[in-house]
Amino acid sequence: MSITTENERIGMQHASDAVAITLKKMREFAKPGISTKELDEYGGELLTQMGARSAPTLTYGFPGYTCISINEETAHGIPSANKILKEGDLINIDVSAELNGYWADNGGSFVLGEDIHGHGRLVETSKEILRKAISNIKGGVRISEIGRLIETEAKKAGYTVIKNLTGHGIGRSLHEEPHEIANYCDRYNTTRFKKNSVVAIETFISTRSTIADTQADGWTLSGNKGGFVAQHEHTIMVTGGQPMIFTAQNGIWD
Ligand code: CO
Ligand code: CO
Repeated sequence: MSITTENERIGMQHASDAVAITLKKMREFAKPGISTKELDEYGGELLTQMGARSAPTLTYGFPGYTCISINEETAHGIPSANKILKEGDLINIDVSAELNGYWADNGGSFVLGEDIHGHGRLVETSKEILRKAISNIKGGVRISEIGRLIETEAKKAGYTVIKNLTGHGIGRSLHEEPHEIANYCDRYNTTRFKKNSVVAIETFISTRSTIADTQADGWTLSGNKGGFVAQHEHTIMVTGGQPMIFTAQNGIWD
């Protein structure tokens, strides 16, 4: 969506606060021994308390309030009573929701407890690439240029990017124009970021894979060449200068 009034900006901020606070609290709640279903139900309660409704549930009939992807799962992991969190797991939580007609989306990967499997560098690289990508977005910048920046930074660190998962416009629904804000330079995409538009920017940085394939459950995505993926996502408003970060309260950069 494009923000034209103060009420729209406030509406987006409230929806964004709900998903950001939920993500932050879920990350704090995560501990070895609990299932991803328990973690998801906690997140679902938080959203409800704030008057928000889970976007994946509303939009896709996803079997969970949030997406929780563990270790080799790239994205869209289904919360399950059989998936028990362990020390050193690479966990991605993605929280998106609707509140009063406004939609916001954010996510982040982290290592649970002590980094015994050495996922920390991947997580930190993804966070920093998101920061760099967002700080380079303003009205008039080509979407493909931001994709180039993300891929270049990933390569510098010895990583790949997932090409078929992208950021997207958001606001009045979960996915809006521009539909594909890719993690690589898509030279066929000549679209530019528009001032006052609301977009969700997300990294998909991998240790080996370039494509995420759907698994047998119909939801969970895994990398085509294996390895691990880190994702970090903020909902932002494009301006003439530095973007306004609606989901800053999630604390993924703290
Ligand atoms: Co998104
Ligand atoms: Co998301």
